Amino acid sequence: MRFQSLRLKLTLWYVFILGVLLVAFSGFLYLTLSKSLYRSVDNKLRSLADLIAAESASPTSRFGFGNIDQTLEASMSLRPIGKFIQVLDESGRISGKSDNLRNIHLPISLNALKNASMGLVTFETNRSFRDTPLRIVTLPLAEKDTMRIVQVASSLEDVEDTLNTLLLILMITVPTALILASLGGQFLAHKALKPVDQVTQTARMITSQNLNQRIPPTRVKDEISRLAETFNDMISRLDQSFRQIKQFSSDASHELKTPLTILRGEVEVSLRKVRSPEEYQKVLKSNLEEIGRMTQIVDDLLLLSRADSGQIQLNRSEIDLSEILREMVPQTSLLARGKNLHIEAALPGDEVKILGDRLRIRELFLNLIENAVKYTEEGGSIKVQLRNGNSDSPLNEAEPKPDGGKRFAEIRVTDTGIGMDREDQERIFDRFFRIDKARSREQGGSGLGLSICKWIVQAHQGEITVESELGKGSSFIVRLPLHTG
Ligand SMILES: Nc1ncnc2c1ncn2[C@@H]1O[C@H](COP(=O)(O)OP(=O)(O)OP(=O)(O)O)[C@@H](O)[C@H]1O
Ligand SMILES: [Mg+2]
Repeated sequence: MRFQSLRLKLTLWYVFILGVLLVAFSGFLYLTLSKSLYRSVDNKLRSLADLIAAESASPTSRFGFGNIDQTLEASMSLRPIGKFIQVLDESGRISGKSDNLRNIHLPISLNALKNASMGLVTFETNRSFRDTPLRIVTLPLAEKDTMRIVQVASSLEDVEDTLNTLLLILMITVPTALILASLGGQFLAHKALKPVDQVTQTARMITSQNLNQRIPPTRVKDEISRLAETFNDMISRLDQSFRQIKQFSSDASHELKTPLTILRGEVEVSLRKVRSPEEYQKVLKSNLEEIGRMTQIVDDLLLLSRADSGQIQLNRSEIDLSEILREMVPQTSLLARGKNLHIEAALPGDEVKILGDRLRIRELFLNLIENAVKYTEEGGSIKVQLRNGNSDSPLNEAEPKPDGGKRFAEIRVTDTGIGMDREDQERIFDRFFRIDKARSREQGGSGLGLSICKWIVQAHQGEITVESELGKGSSFIVRLPLHTG
């Protein structure tokens, strides 16, 4: 409907502009032709009148006004066909006229008489003479002591016939041309807008269930094909987001289903018969663990979804990373208790300040250290390093810094754990992604820890990367912009 109206609009504009041009052109043609035809009649009348005047004024003239036709033929061998000639004296009495006037006479207006008395020539059109429109020239002939007036006239019928025919032709051809142009315009607009219709149809077919539809590419690269390309790109992006969302919700429900199944199983088994208070206690304890796990997942999901919609405000203040890590490392040693891991910290003596949210930054480091502990075998070691962007270490200076010349604090959490291959390194920051699901679950993981880390780092305009080798260990590197104000 919309395109149809656009088609109509284009056609109407086209026809309107063409119409204006054709009418202007026709008007110009008609006016020029009519002017030139009238001027040609006037010129002929005037030259005949001038001839008569010159002849009558010549001293050798045998010109008499009694019988004008004969006189003209005799003196100038002229037979002016279709011209009416009439000669009047000063008082307006007719003293001679051509034979074709017979018993009628040419009309003379008061204005022409007045002009003649002043020696001026007058051209007039008279429509009251019988049925024919007449063009009359009135010319004064000054003689010794009197004055005569010569009138020469001819019918305008031919001129008017020609002009009327032209008018008729224009009145038929201009509307016909406009009708043809509007048909042609509609056809062209239809042809030009057809691909747009195709885009609309494809767009109409696309739903969230059916995002694999694409507009077929055209051979010609023009505005419409660019529109189609842009549209296809947009659908691809939508497709990808929809897939991610689907994956995410199916992962989330799966993740919550496992603890629920365990809970249900445990409760069902324990309800089968009456048990001792110790046994109930044991089941309830295990239930509590599963509930704790679910609560953690729900909390993490809530955090991530609020982060996605930009609802989380960072509580930024100037914080010293050295101080935070110096506090945290001994605390996290508790995590490694009973696993015989060696945790060491290499922190600079001076302050490394950033503008950040203290709680979130602690959460970030805790997640990384917790992972290092979880995924390192007994007897391994974990190292937490902090480097100030201001340090003169050649290594630090040589490294490419994210975000141009800005200076960054770099935190490395390195372990001698199980490591991971290159393929997995690309996916560990995805939500719910775990390399070894069973093993990670055993250790209480849901695969959201690194997604949260990534969000925290990005919210602080930093970046997080991983370097790892399967079986040898991993290094998580966080870079956060330094606060230099
Ligand atoms: N230091 C590490 N060494 C080896 N693999 C790791 C390390 N850190 C993370 N991984 C792998 O990346 C996966 C994702 O880590 P992430 O922290 O997001 O989830 P999780 O530790 O399994 O669960 P959560 O942190 O939500 O409790 C882990 O399951 C693990 O397979
Ligand atoms: Mg983790």
